Amino acid sequence: MTAKPRILVARAIFDDVIGKLAAHFEVDANQADDALAGPALAARLAGKWGAFTTGGERIDAALLAQCPTLKIVANMAVGYNNFDVAAMTAAGVLGANAPGVLTETTADFGFALLMATARRITESEHFLRAGQWQKWRYDLFAGQEVHGSTLGIIGMGRIGQGVARRGALGFGMRVIYHNRTRLDAATEAACQARYVSKQELLQTADHVVLVLPYTPEAHHTIGAAELALMKPSATLVNLARGGIVDDAALAQALQAGRIAAAGLDVFEGEPQVHPALLACRNVVLTPHIASATEPTRRAMAHLAADNLIAFHTQGRALTPVNPEALAPGR
Ligand code: GLV
Repeated sequence: MTAKPRILVARAIFDDVIGKLAAHFEVDANQADDALAGPALAARLAGKWGAFTTGGERIDAALLAQCPTLKIVANMAVGYNNFDVAAMTAAGVLGANAPGVLTETTADFGFALLMATARRITESEHFLRAGQWQKWRYDLFAGQEVHGSTLGIIGMGRIGQGVARRGALGFGMRVIYHNRTRLDAATEAACQARYVSKQELLQTADHVVLVLPYTPEAHHTIGAAELALMKPSATLVNLARGGIVDDAALAQALQAGRIAAAGLDVFEGEPQVHPALLACRNVVLTPHIASATEPTRRAMAHLAADNLIAFHTQGRALTPVNPEALAPGR
């Protein structure tokens, strides 16, 4: 009997997913959930054929040079900016992500964050819990209108389209979007969304939602100059990745009342959060939980596991990000 390939599961995960993997692999499971990065991650990957990662583990040329036996890294995340894709392809290491299974759940959360931000839900709850609610007032926590307003979405992939549909069909919003490539007419019609320039979107939208993937070109898509274009009554939601927004510039804009409010699920350098953001009253902060329902996290974990299993048993992953890594003669 040939030995099972060895894999690392880099973070704690559902026991049944470990069980499923154990039927195919010799599993080194980090159920203790120790932070593994750099040399610690390389040491734990020594001799491994594959890795199950969660989106936070950096896989780059320096790490790959120390892990010559590694053949595949499967992320339990749709985003894969933790992968240096070029370095992985050069090393013949396949990367896989977990798209599709989290689309609707993440779009739900985007809408929850938009609503909480526009209607000042967490700010008013803090006020109530602090015993500050003494009487009704005509303008107590008056927020921004959601229904019938203009929703601007930057990044119109699957999740962006889910946010658009919720806005257009559920809340009667006018939806405008900006994307690297314009959607086809049928998809635009299904989302009731109109393509505009980034500048027009920022100047016109009442609520700006960011759902674009992180790439070096997307770094600080929203900084001081972009915030200056937005309406003073506008809100901003970042569902995408830390680094897409310049968090320091955003904190300044929020403090100065340059825009009304922001809702952030992702942060530059997370789990650290810029201290100036923590000091702002008009920001809703959540710890990167947009896809966090039990069924969705389970589906994401199973898809990552299935990518490893399919590659082992059939020589192909279900949702590869760099299939060119397997090109013959590479
Ligand atoms: C979460 O951020 C993901 O990319 O799945």
